[in-house]
Amino acid sequence: MTKKRVLSGIQPTGNLHLGNYLGSIRNWVEHQHNYENYFCVVDLHAITAPHDPQTLAENSYTIAALYLACGISLEHASIFIQSHIPAHSELTWLLNCVTPLNWLQDMIQFKEKAIKQGENVNVGLLDYPVLMAADILLYQADEVPVGEDQKQHLELTRDIAARFNHQFAKKQPVFKLPHALIQADGARIMSLTDGTRKMSKSDPSDLSRINLLDSPDLIEKKIKKCKTDLERGLTFEASLQGRGSANDRPECRNLLTLYMLMSGKSKETVAAECQDLGWGQFKPLLTEATIEHLRPIQAKYQEVMTDKTYLASILESGRDRAATIADRTLAEVKSALGFSQVGS
Ligand code: AMP
Ligand code: TRP
Repeated sequence: MTKKRVLSGIQPTGNLHLGNYLGSIRNWVEHQHNYENYFCVVDLHAITAPHDPQTLAENSYTIAALYLACGISLEHASIFIQSHIPAHSELTWLLNCVTPLNWLQDMIQFKEKAIKQGENVNVGLLDYPVLMAADILLYQADEVPVGEDQKQHLELTRDIAARFNHQFAKKQPVFKLPHALIQADGARIMSLTDGTRKMSKSDPSDLSRINLLDSPDLIEKKIKKCKTDLERGLTFEASLQGRGSANDRPECRNLLTLYMLMSGKSKETVAAECQDLGWGQFKPLLTEATIEHLRPIQAKYQEVMTDKTYLASILESGRDRAATIADRTLAEVKSALGFSQVGS
């Protein structure tokens, strides 16, 4: 039986943090044995915000190396850089012409980023979800493991695929409709300095996130300084009563979730262990679990980065495998749209 296909990607904008890892990569790694996997570094997406040309290529390599360091296995997955495959840009244009403008204007992430970027909003930022749809649809992906913030983009991808199939490929659909794969725990990791905002690469304060490559000292410092509350006794439940209620403790929920996922302990074990603890007792536990969880990832990252030639060869063969599938889909799309094709 052929395996179902997975595709996902992360932008090479800065270092990866625990939100990226727990919401996304951890799930790629956990489920990779069951799928045929394609993981890309989405560098074309990275230029929708102001970027530095000096560091773009280097950041792409860093992210690819982190995929390997986190446990992606080449036995199950192809790793590649989005811009190495021209079909991504080309399909984006074709899909642009079947996507209603107002679908893009309704995207939450566009609205949030547009506010953040102020005067500096380019057409690419609005078009970002169409490029993401192209990434996914080119590979006929069955499942797309992402954090919760990408749910709306996955729904849009399905809508675009269905609209294309309906308008141009009624007899034999060109696109498969993909599903979002979102974990119950860790799909939305919150900032260390404000439990109501998600952990994000673009937060100006580095204290708001733990990066996968942070040193043990820095991790300790960030956890020491992170926002907590005045209550003693740490529980998951106390924070489930709704935002704004007196018992809402978003920081408590977030930090316990982090502890659970970093230590590998079950929710019940963590709940029992922490129910009578104060923050002063809890923080060293979280610090220790985080440092130990990241230690092998950091070691593997250093190892991968010492052999750039090997990394480049991985990306080259990833590109070749991915391009074969992408080009096939692109040819079907162009044929359905009625483009002339020489030699076919
Ligand atoms: P990005 O950094 O925007 O390229 O996001 C890459 C992946 O990480 C996507 O699947 C996101 O959904 C996921 N992600 C980003 N931030 C978080 C967060 N705070 N919690 C959980 N997942 C996240
Ligand atoms: N938009 C995603 C994010 O910000 C990144 C992304 C781009 C992606 N293309 C993708 C994720 C394809 C999954 C599949 O997190």
